[in-house]
Amino acid sequence: MTLLHERFPGADLPHVVLGGRPTPVRPLQSWGPGVWLKDEGEFGEGGWGGNKVRKLEWLLPEAHRRGSRTLLTVGGIGTHWGLAAALYGAEHGIRTVLGLVEQPVDDHVTDQLRRLAASGAVVHRYPSVRRLKLAAPGLMLRHRDGLRPPYYLPAGGSSPVGTLGYVDAALEMAAQVRDGAVPEPARVVTAVGSAGTAAGLVLGLRLAGLSSRVVGVVVNDAFRLDGVVIARLANRTVDLLRDRGAEIDVQIDASDLDVTHDYLGPTYGATTAEGERALEAARAEGLELEPVYTAKAFAAVRDLVPTSRGPVLVLNTHGPRRVRA
Ligand SMILES: Cc1ncc(COP(=O)(O)O)c(C=O)c1O
Repeated sequence: MTLLHERFPGADLPHVVLGGRPTPVRPLQSWGPGVWLKDEGEFGEGGWGGNKVRKLEWLLPEAHRRGSRTLLTVGGIGTHWGLAAALYGAEHGIRTVLGLVEQPVDDHVTDQLRRLAASGAVVHRYPSVRRLKLAAPGLMLRHRDGLRPPYYLPAGGSSPVGTLGYVDAALEMAAQVRDGAVPEPARVVTAVGSAGTAAGLVLGLRLAGLSSRVVGVVVNDAFRLDGVVIARLANRTVDLLRDRGAEIDVQIDASDLDVTHDYLGPTYGATTAEGERALEAARAEGLELEPVYTAKAFAAVRDLVPTSRGPVLVLNTHGPRRVRA
C-alpha cells in the first residue's frame, strides 16, 4: 500500500512496487548549509532507477488494466524514459515500441543507444519532432496487438497516471519532514523534461500540506514547458484521481510554482558550462549526475541557495549510469 492509497482509501489505483521506499535524504554539506538531496537514484531494482520508475509503478498496471501488451512512447535518442519502459515493461510482459528523435550525440547518448538496442525495445528513429508526429498514426497501426492499439504514453511517461508517481513521492517527502529526517524545504528543485515529475510534486506537496515551492528547471525545448503546462497536468491528475474514486478538491495554478529556462543551454541534450561545474561539485559528494537533466537542475541549486529563505532540497532524478548486466 502506498502513501497515495493511504491518503485516498477506496480509490481504484492499480500499482506495482518497483522500488524501495523511502528514498534517502541527506544534506549536501559542501553545497552550503541548508542544501538537501532526495536521492531517487536509489529507487528501482539493483540501484537502477530514478523518476521514470516511479511513473512506471502506475503505468504498467494501467496497461494491464486496459488489456494492452504493447507500450508506444516517444523521446530523444538518448531517452532514459524509453529505456526504463523497455526494461521494466519486459519484466511485466509488456513490449515497448519507441519513436525517437535525433539529439546531440555525446558518449552518454551513445551508451544509451547501445543499452536501448540490448533492451528488446523496438526503435524507430526520426530526424525531427515533426517527422515523428507524421509517422505516429502509422506506428499505432503497425504495432497493434490484434485489433487493440498500443497503449500510447507521451514523452517521459508524463500522463496523469504516470504523474501519480510523484504525487506519491511528495507524500513520502512530507513523511520524511514529519519524521525529522529532513527540514521542511523552502524549495524543491527538479529537472523538467516532460513535466510529470514537477506536476506530481506540486500536487503531492499541496495534498500533504507543505508550503515548499517547487522550482522546475526546464531542460527540454522540444515542446512547451512552463507553469501553465505543469499546472494543467497536475489538474488532469486531480481529475484522474476523482474519476478513480478519490475525494479530492484541489486546483493547481501556474503561480503555485517557479519555472526557469535559464539552464537549458542551446537545446535539449546540449551540455552547459554551469551543468559541467555542477556535475564536478556533485562528484565531491559521491553523486554521479548526467549532463542532460540532473546537472542542469543542480546548476540551478547553486544559484538559488544564496537567495533562498530556508532549506533547498534537490531531487536526483537519476540517469542510467548503473545498468543491470
Ligand atoms: C534523469 C532525469 N531527470 C529528470 C527528468 C525529467 O522528468 P519529467 O520528464 O518528469 O519532467 C528525466 C526525464 O526523463 C530524466 O531522465
